[in-house]
Amino acid sequence: MSNNTVAFDQWIRARFVDINSALEKRYQQQEDKANVLGIGSEEKKALRSEGENCIRALVAEGNTDEGFDSAFNLLGNVGLFMAACRRHEITEPSREKHSPLVEASGLAMQIGASIGVTPRFATAHLTTHNSAVNGVYKRFTNLSCEKIFVDYNTKGILAYKRAADALLKILPLGISHPIAGDLLAVTKLSLEAVADSNKELFEQLDPDDFFYHVRPYYKPYYVGSHVYRGANAGDFAGINVVDLLLGLCFANEPYYAQILVDKFLYMMPEDQDMLRDCMRRSSLMDDFISNIPNANQSWFQTNLRLFLEVCASHGATANQHQEMLVQKYIVAPSQTLASQHLKSITASGPPLDELIDGLKKLRDHRTATKRDDVRTRFDDINKLKSTLIE
Ligand code: HEM
Repeated sequence: MSNNTVAFDQWIRARFVDINSALEKRYQQQEDKANVLGIGSEEKKALRSEGENCIRALVAEGNTDEGFDSAFNLLGNVGLFMAACRRHEITEPSREKHSPLVEASGLAMQIGASIGVTPRFATAHLTTHNSAVNGVYKRFTNLSCEKIFVDYNTKGILAYKRAADALLKILPLGISHPIAGDLLAVTKLSLEAVADSNKELFEQLDPDDFFYHVRPYYKPYYVGSHVYRGANAGDFAGINVVDLLLGLCFANEPYYAQILVDKFLYMMPEDQDMLRDCMRRSSLMDDFISNIPNANQSWFQTNLRLFLEVCASHGATANQHQEMLVQKYIVAPSQTLASQHLKSITASGPPLDELIDGLKKLRDHRTATKRDDVRTRFDDINKLKSTLIE
């Protein structure tokens, strides 16, 4: 890494965290904890000028071609800086037509376009691709609520990825292969690990601390002349690989296809490739359905039973996300929020009720719930269940 890249990384890991943490402390002391206006102007000035100095040196240095990992890490650092400026309303999209952080935008766009990802910080920067130095990985603040959130996001994402890997390994074997059952069992265990991790997150994370001091760093912001939506824990391919290979979601359904299209550039390039590949595949559910004439075979009975358990586990994690996490950490606190702060309370930007309806639709696909307005696998799951011999 060049000296300037190292200096910026060190600034992000130390001084940046101190400034953000000091500002959070000030916001917390107010009666209206959502207000950031007129608070901590010295810290905000220091954040902007110190960050821009680091970035200016990198821009002057030019293209140093240090490989993907280094470029992705640098993009993450620029992104964390821009997200913090958004959080403290040094920038604010509703009063801008483009980002006032001109050099940061230029650098972010150059790197994002060259490595094939969105030019902002994405979830991977804080979770799966966030290297720890002496036990501490990159964060916005030193608040324990942020650490709890990121720790359990990382755990959940990695467990979904394990589930997706196991399902992908079934494809070249086929559902009647004697080892397909082992892979379905691994998938089920991995999804249960997601559920355990979500439950611990739910027990440990304080809703007010999350809502007022963590979530605001995930808001949309301008890079150049476009606003990019905030990062969310769903920006990896694994969960969609599970959706599609199980057959609970359809890549050609407009609602679901839109989600995939919108998230491609928020994922790591290897995740993008994996998801593209899955979008062309047939699902295990369809394979089981076309094998119903073999329902009396022992492989069918064993593997179908496991497959249905996997579907139920996937549905259970989706239900948890909706009923525990979204409800406790977004919906409930936003009901007490002063009206001037109600806009842009989600990472993607649409009004809250629209976002919640969309998430419920996804949940209902994953739980194969009967709906009149959406094609779910309710009937197919029941048809498959009816072939099970007690
Ligand atoms: C405090 C905890 C969490 C809250 C409040 C929360 C809330 C949300 C919200 C509101 C969205 C919609 C995107 C947006 O804001 O624009 C979303 C998306 C998503 N979240 Fe979470 N989330 C949490 C933790 C997690 C965890 C631990 C995972 C597991 C890896 C996860 C997986 C997802 C996925 C996959 C999506 C994309 C939509 C989907 O495919 O379901 N979330 N989350």
